[in-house]
Amino acid sequence: MQIYDILKQDHEEVKSLLNDLIALKDDDEYRFVLVDEIKGALIPHSRAEEATFYNTLRAVDADKSIVAHGFQEHFEAESLVRLLQVKDTLDVEWKATAIKLREVLNHHIAEEESEIFTEARKMFSADEAESIGEAFTKLKPKFINDGVMKSAVDLVINMLPPRLADSIRGLDSSKH
Ligand SMILES: [Fe+2]
Ligand SMILES: [Fe+2]
Repeated sequence: MQIYDILKQDHEEVKSLLNDLIALKDDDEYRFVLVDEIKGALIPHSRAEEATFYNTLRAVDADKSIVAHGFQEHFEAESLVRLLQVKDTLDVEWKATAIKLREVLNHHIAEEESEIFTEARKMFSADEAESIGEAFTKLKPKFINDGVMKSAVDLVINMLPPRLADSIRGLDSSKH
């Protein structure tokens, strides 16, 4: 499957979980389960998307501002997911945060599926899009059990130019 179709499937999954969450009553305890599921779906998706799709786009010299904008929106969405977890625990205003998250994600996904996919289709052949899809599918499970800190470090690494990213990655592995 080409990377575009795989990413779209993930997008639909996150959107539907978020709709389910927002449809709950304010005091429905099932929200804790859904917030965890949203985080568990969104963060590995974003890390694998950055590492395979965005970074390949950057490497072939696609419009860098589009990619940078995408990274920025991942950061924004994840900050909201974490805020949602905190607010949820404290039992305040979680729904307003969930609605804001839906707004940010719908915007990001629409942009990704239009502008970024269009740019990518100019850069990658069908075979290449298949290979990127395969790489994404293999890589994503590796991010599933990572903690918040590891994920934040990976986000920073993905955002850096490859030359600088390698030195940070080196620092990280020397600690373990
Ligand atoms: Fe995505
Ligand atoms: Fe994305």
